[in-house]
Amino acid sequence: MGDPDDSTNENEEYFDEKIKLMIIGETRTGKTSLISRYCKNEFKGGSYISTIGIDFQIKNIELNSKKIRLQIWDTAGQERFRNIAKNYFQSSDGFIIVYDISSSESFERLDYWIEEIKSNSDEFTKMILVGNKCDIQDQRQIKKEEGEEYAKKKNIKFYEVSAKEGTNVNEVFEYLVKDILKSYSPNEKYKKRASKMLTVPIKKGKKKKCC
Ligand code: GTP
Ligand code: MG
Repeated sequence: MGDPDDSTNENEEYFDEKIKLMIIGETRTGKTSLISRYCKNEFKGGSYISTIGIDFQIKNIELNSKKIRLQIWDTAGQERFRNIAKNYFQSSDGFIIVYDISSSESFERLDYWIEEIKSNSDEFTKMILVGNKCDIQDQRQIKKEEGEEYAKKKNIKFYEVSAKEGTNVNEVFEYLVKDILKSYSPNEKYKKRASKMLTVPIKKGKKKKCC
């Protein structure tokens, strides 16, 4: 899939910041549903359609008097697609890690996801932990306190949310974007990366003697 930033349209709207976020976690935890709730304020219940490979949504917001273009990458939780998502980790400014409060398996896999972020992204990256589906209390397998304790241990912010009812969804995205902007400007980071690439010394090889 192409990068939406590759556009060369001269009429493109101006943004103070362009921020890339990724949502990750086990399959069926509700990643696509959380993005739909945040970007379109909708929830499609009923039959479940698994994300294939990787997808993205765009949302433009204003925060701290800045015009921000959010590019939100939706990854597939299914194992066979995981390598595709990893290729996008490096360019992401922040990660939303999702588990399902009605699935202890999805909670037990959190160490794996955090390790994946640490080994595939840079030191600037921010993350937030989310326990989704807090509307189905009768099927709960993970107590809220367990989520809180885990997040505290890992030193990351935690929310219980519901994509279905919209509970805390805006709060999650807003917190993560603010957290990113508090520590750096993603635009500056891209410039730094670009300048690093330009200043990589070119190794001079020994000139081959001509016959
Ligand atoms: P993959 O694309 O396979 O990784 O799954 P996903 O994490 O994107 O999950 P998806 O958003 O497709 O949701 C999986 C199932 O959970 C669907 O049947 C959704 O309707 C349901 N679901 C998602 N969020 C919620 C929620 O907040 N509450 C309830 N009750 N169901 C939810
Ligand atoms: Mg999905």
